[in-house]
This record gives sequence, C-alpha cells and structure tokens, in this order.
Amino acid sequence: MTEDIGALDLEVYEHDDLEYLKRVIHSLRNYQACALNQLSHKQRSLSLCSLPQKELLLEHKFGDYLHNIMNSIEANQAVLQDILKLAQQQLIKLELEPDRKTFLHDFARLEELFLQIVREWSSEGAPVRQASFEPILQDLKSLYPLSQRPLTKVLIPGSGLSRLAFDVACQTFDCTVNEQSMLNLFTANLILNKCTRIDNYRVYPWIHNLNNKLEAGGTTRPVAFPDVDPTLRPDPFRFQVIPGDFQQFLTRRPDLEGHFDCVLTSFVLDSTHNVMETVEVIGKCLKPGGKWINLGPLNYVYAKYPAEMSLELSWDLLREVILASGFQFVKEEETPRTCPYVSDRNSISSVNFQCLHFIVEKKS
Ligand SMILES: C[S@@+](CC[C@H](N)C(=O)[O-])C[C@H]1O[C@@H](n2cnc3c(N)ncnc32)[C@H](O)[C@@H]1O
Repeated sequence: MTEDIGALDLEVYEHDDLEYLKRVIHSLRNYQACALNQLSHKQRSLSLCSLPQKELLLEHKFGDYLHNIMNSIEANQAVLQDILKLAQQQLIKLELEPDRKTFLHDFARLEELFLQIVREWSSEGAPVRQASFEPILQDLKSLYPLSQRPLTKVLIPGSGLSRLAFDVACQTFDCTVNEQSMLNLFTANLILNKCTRIDNYRVYPWIHNLNNKLEAGGTTRPVAFPDVDPTLRPDPFRFQVIPGDFQQFLTRRPDLEGHFDCVLTSFVLDSTHNVMETVEVIGKCLKPGGKWINLGPLNYVYAKYPAEMSLELSWDLLREVILASGFQFVKEEETPRTCPYVSDRNSISSVNFQCLHFIVEKKS
C-alpha cells in the first residue's frame, strides 16, 4: 500500500476560495447536464435542413453519431464523479445549493481538463510531452548530478495535472508544486493517489469540438489514462502540493522565501495576469545561485478576455524584466522551439506554439 502523495491542505482556504471551490464542485456535478444541453443546441440546428437533407444525414448514421456523443458525455461524467468523490473526502463540509447553475466558463474549464489529461497523462500525449517537458527534464538532470538530487528543492508553479512534477520527483528530486486550479489539483489527486494501473480510466476528450473532423466515428474515440502506473515511484517520494495563486505564494508561505534551488515553468509565464509579478516571485523563491528553467510561449491567456487585466510583454521587454530582477542568462535558445499542444489525430487542424526556452541564474 503506497502512501497518498501531495495531499491538499485546505485549511489555508479563505472565504473567497471556498466560494470558488463550490463553483468547481458544482461544475463537476453538472457536467453531463450542461454538455447535453449544448448538444441539444446542435441538434436544433437540424431544423435548418430540409426533409430530404435530414433523411440523407439519418441514412448515413447521423443519429448514431449524436447518440454516441451522448454516451461519451455519460462516460466523462463517471470519471468526473470519481474526481469529485475523492476531493470531497478531503474537503471540509461545504454547504452546496442543490440547483446551482454552472457558469459557461466553468464548463469550458472541464472541456480543457479532458485535453489536459491527454497532454499530461496519456500515451497519445507522449510526443507533446517529449517536445515540452523533456527539454526541461534534460536541463534539470544536466544541472544536478544524481547524488545531489534528493537534496535539490525544485518548485513547479502552474503545475497543471502534475505530470512534469511527477517525472521530476521520479528522478528523486525534492519537488513542490503550486497550482491555482482546484479542478487540476483534484484531477492530479485522483491520478496520483487512486490510479493503480496503466489505463485505469478512459475519457472522451474530442466530443466538445465538432469542427475539422475527418471522420464522425473518431469524435467518440476514447483516450485512456494514465500511461504510467503512478504507484511505481521511488521511495521516499519527495512531492508536496501548495495550492493557490502563485503571485500570493510567499504571502501564504513566507517560510519558503529563498528556499528553492530550482524553479521550472512550463507554459506558465503567459498564464498569469502579471508576468512581471511572476518573475519577481520566482526570484524571491530561489536561493542565491538558484536556477530557473523555462519553456513556453508568450500566448498571454487573459489577452482574449476584455474584462480581465493582462500584461502582454514582448520577449525583448520580458528579457529586460528578467535581467533587472537579478537574473543572468545561463542558456538561451536563439530561435523559438516549436511545441505542439494537444490535438486530435482525427482533426485536420492542429495547434503548435513557438516556445522560448532558457535557463537563468539568480545572482548571488
Ligand atoms: C497552460 S497550463 C500549463 C500546465 C503545465 N505546466 C503544462 O505545461 O502542461 C497553465 C497552468 O498554470 C496554472 N496557473 C495559471 N495562473 C496561475 C497562478 N497565478 N498561480 C498558480 N497557477 C496558475 C493554470 O491553472 C494551469 O494549470
């Protein structure tokens, strides 16, 4: 029997966080109802078709197509139910309103969650991880020889579903992850602590975007996860989770100022509202001489939301910010590296990002 890893300490949660937690829990519970509701909108589009057009579609099994999507939604809900069940065992008793609705953007987070599972924990995501995580792991291993690793404290902010962190801790580093999305933390918790074999679960990640499909049948193709057995890990396994906004990391845990030897950021710099603040907090978390390894694009995620604050710095400006924050460059790839995100092999479109890859050192 392996011990649970990265158990969540929710004592630190305050009122606003608890409201957010309730929203997450409701969205997990309501997924199937919301997804079926969206599907029924699509079905209503059939009213655009003439009777012969409808007959043509039905003749070519369009009804089966929709029916299979409904079954896939049900199967996804079963996985979310397991995530929820485990999370609720760890949560203090929250009072939930029975009929609370899910916001559209909370539902969108669930759609993204299925894709993130593919990216981080499926064998289908292996080429994506090879492009994005492997260069970081190689840097880390070349900076710290095997004998130093158990004493090397590595921090991974914006850790997503914790796969990079899991791989780092499997290399015997002492790994701390920080993530603000409770949905991601709950899901990582299920994978790390309840999956006891490869392909323990299956999700249907491709059903929420019906654009660009080559074959209707491919839309309901399941993806199994995890691609590794998470119980097969070194003992001791040095892995802790500190939930919450990274920009508040040291406010919540002032004891961790100057604590880390290395910070790893993968697809994170452009995920926060204020990248300058992120650079500053990284600097404060590191010991003098500590290293920061980054790989990711500058595709600032909040830029597309007019109501959100977002500081969209170009690389030349961000580079100056990094230098002015007390770092010096140790390695800097001259040309951006092309990294795929997650794409469905049944799709005629794909997503690639041009990523900056660098190592900087905090000056002593
Ligand atoms: C694009 S995802 C990348 C996840 C993972 N690092 C990867 O490479 O697959 C960005 C992650 O950063 C998290 N994140 C964004 N802003 C954050 C913040 N202020 N504090 C902590 N986590 C944050 C998001 O919840 C999300 O999991």
